[in-house]
Amino acid sequence: MYKRQIGKKVYWLGAVDWDRRLFDALIPLPDGTSYNAYLVEGSDKTALLDTVDPSMADTLLAQLEGVSRIDFIISHHAEQDHSGAIPYVLEKFPEAKVVVSPKAKGMLMDLLKIREDAFVTMEDGERLSLGDKSLKCIHTPWVHWPETMSTYLEEDRILFSCDFYGSHIATSELFVADQARVYEAAKRYFAEIMMPFRRVIAKNIEKIGTYDIDMIAPSHGPIYDRPAWIMEAYQHWVNARPDNLVALPYVSMHGSTGQMVDRLASALTRQGVQVELFNIAVTDIGKIAISLVDAATIVVGTPTVLAGPHPMAAYATFLANALRPKAEFLSIIGSYGWGGKTVDTLSGMIPNLKVEVLDPVLCKGLPSEDNLKALDDLAAAIADRHREAGIK
Ligand code: FEO
Repeated sequence: MYKRQIGKKVYWLGAVDWDRRLFDALIPLPDGTSYNAYLVEGSDKTALLDTVDPSMADTLLAQLEGVSRIDFIISHHAEQDHSGAIPYVLEKFPEAKVVVSPKAKGMLMDLLKIREDAFVTMEDGERLSLGDKSLKCIHTPWVHWPETMSTYLEEDRILFSCDFYGSHIATSELFVADQARVYEAAKRYFAEIMMPFRRVIAKNIEKIGTYDIDMIAPSHGPIYDRPAWIMEAYQHWVNARPDNLVALPYVSMHGSTGQMVDRLASALTRQGVQVELFNIAVTDIGKIAISLVDAATIVVGTPTVLAGPHPMAAYATFLANALRPKAEFLSIIGSYGWGGKTVDTLSGMIPNLKVEVLDPVLCKGLPSEDNLKALDDLAAAIADRHREAGIK
């Protein structure tokens, strides 16, 4: 993709990665992604804001053909999908200074072996003058790593937010065209990498809210030329109470746990509680993460295998614990053959979750009428807890 103008002497550069399907060897990318960089030409100085994943460095270098000088390479975030091509840009523009938050400097020296004298650090609130344009540094930690910062181009009222407000979408559209599509992708992205840091992110949202912003230019996905809706969405994901919703990731080997899951889902629906089922064996884990943004209750469904939970159920539980969702209640259901410690093992895997654990329902083999009645009772207990907690 070629260099594209987004404002007066402000350009999108970067690479659209249509083929990438996994990030951090963990996160599914069903729609690919983009690594957005930006070029801001002031009357005196020129700044490149972020770079691209090193696998696509050639694309960025081709876009920089014809750019005679780069004075600053602003690295908002040290993760390599944005910083990884800095060494290549420095080779081409050896006089450029790498502008970072103080925490990022050490990280980039460790990760990319950039020499120390190439760096200039910026404190929170400091300005970098390009002549007739200036970039204000806003420290925004934990979106996504502790060193992360954003910059605000004051004259053009553009916020360069890096991962913050980003979405993993490969598209030729420069600006958001399909809001519903971007909402889903941005929520997935928030769930996967920012949800654990909600308290800090609430402070970042507050900080960003004090600026007049006409445009948010993230480092993944399309640019927001009408940014109010994504800012409101973040407010909701971070600050709103959970929904009257049960997220139900499960595994079933021979159908017994599957029957229990179906019964619980029906009973919840009858009780007026929404439920989302995820067969972990075939589900993209990003879908579970999205559900965890809103769910008031998590129920894990698992057979007992080798005296414990099925490894896939353990994986989903480990993930839920790491993502620290807002859920207030949790339970476990499943079938076993002759015994085991499924409940003990899963209960020990959720120290980060501030949840009330509701009585699990386990059955031997196929569920009996009594087991099915116990699932109806669990659904009623969940509905009661939601009502009592004022969750609608
Ligand atoms: Fe897009 Fe945290 O990197």
